[in-house]
Amino acid sequence: MELIEGHRPVTPADGIPVLDVDPYDPAVLAAPHDYYSKLRQAGEVVFIPRYSVLAVGRFATTHKVFSDHENFVSSRGVGLNDFALEPPWRPPSIILETDPPEHTRARRVMARAMSPKSARDLGEMFRDVADRIVDRIVAAGVIDGVADLAEPYPTQVFPKAVGMKDTNARYLVDYGAMVFNAIGPDNELRRTAMARAGEIVPWITGACTRERLTGDGLGAMIYADADRGEITHDEAGMLVRSFLSAGVDTTVTGIGNALWCLSQNPGEWDKLKADLSLARPAFEEVLRYTSPVHTFGRTAGRATQIAGFPVDEGTKVLCVLGAANMDPDKWGDPEVFRIDRRPSGHIAFGAGIHGCVGQNLARAELEALLQAMVARIGRIEPAGQAIWRPNNAIRALDRLPLRLIPRAR
Ligand code: HEM
Repeated sequence: MELIEGHRPVTPADGIPVLDVDPYDPAVLAAPHDYYSKLRQAGEVVFIPRYSVLAVGRFATTHKVFSDHENFVSSRGVGLNDFALEPPWRPPSIILETDPPEHTRARRVMARAMSPKSARDLGEMFRDVADRIVDRIVAAGVIDGVADLAEPYPTQVFPKAVGMKDTNARYLVDYGAMVFNAIGPDNELRRTAMARAGEIVPWITGACTRERLTGDGLGAMIYADADRGEITHDEAGMLVRSFLSAGVDTTVTGIGNALWCLSQNPGEWDKLKADLSLARPAFEEVLRYTSPVHTFGRTAGRATQIAGFPVDEGTKVLCVLGAANMDPDKWGDPEVFRIDRRPSGHIAFGAGIHGCVGQNLARAELEALLQAMVARIGRIEPAGQAIWRPNNAIRALDRLPLRLIPRAR
């Protein structure tokens, strides 16, 4: 049988609406809200002929499918390629791209390394680096929020947290972009990102080895679990690779998106300055409002159903987290960015057994950064057009010109 984007073509059940859209068109990726609302309006589940997949975007259904690991598996890939039919471009992740029981073992090790206590212990280092970078950008006055803050901060704190002896900020960011573009179809974005695999992947693989890690970072914790026999040493290297795949580009994106939201909504920035305890809820609202991971997929591991419609085994389903996090039925006024909304239950970090294992760390990084900004910045103003950087799975900015007005002391 001829495959489409590495998966078996889908014959949609009678009654499933057809949505004639290319969700991976760079123009749609750069401005997705019209697509999101068409997807939600069309029905509980739709068929997208362009890639022969089903897609869900209403909050309740997206949440249900994304967290139903018994019917919708991750081991066949969270992108368009079905790993059961075509080998993936790299050995699959032993946490993101597995199902129980394999997933459970890897997850236990990762969750221990990235516990709330680990995040607390790293707080001081996060604050030191944040203070230094924010001092520098405030002195500069006009900055690019991406190149001058969103990228430098995580690419400095994250390798320190993991315990990398040597690092390469560019490779870390670009590796993340490659992994996330690979989740989409074989389009220009994926091909351009993958063209750099030969240069970047060997560096990443080397960076995950024990010799390249200090004895006191998160990476060492993973290798110590291998010494205790919980996982093998090869698996430890694979889990360190998961840190590097999933922990940098996502946070870079989260920070860029936070700067964008706060610069577009000066009243919300004023609220944060007046009450620093809003730093955490503000980040949650940024995540809901911008969904840094906009789309991940699942594969029906057996014949099942979505919202009463039969779904064949092997069907790929796009779970459009960005659409779900903007569903008016769930949020009332989703288009309004409000840092005190406290959007509990948003699915920007996923849901269920694969829910983001790095979320404690991401929150701690953002909290330290927002505190450093509030202490030093009076106003954040747009200083030009924000440009989005289309990616098959990530909603990230390419450029964000900003003017920072120092806070009166
Ligand atoms: C703003 C930042 C972040 C966002 C928006 C984000 C988003 C997500 C999402 C949506 C998932 C679910 C994937 C799925 O169910 O298929 C996930 C899983 C994961 N995330 Fe994050 N993430 C972020 C930061 C991080 C960080 C800092 C790390 C590592 C230190 C990390 C490591 C992981 C890993 C290893 C998984 C797989 C978990 C599993 O399959 O059990 N993430 N993340």
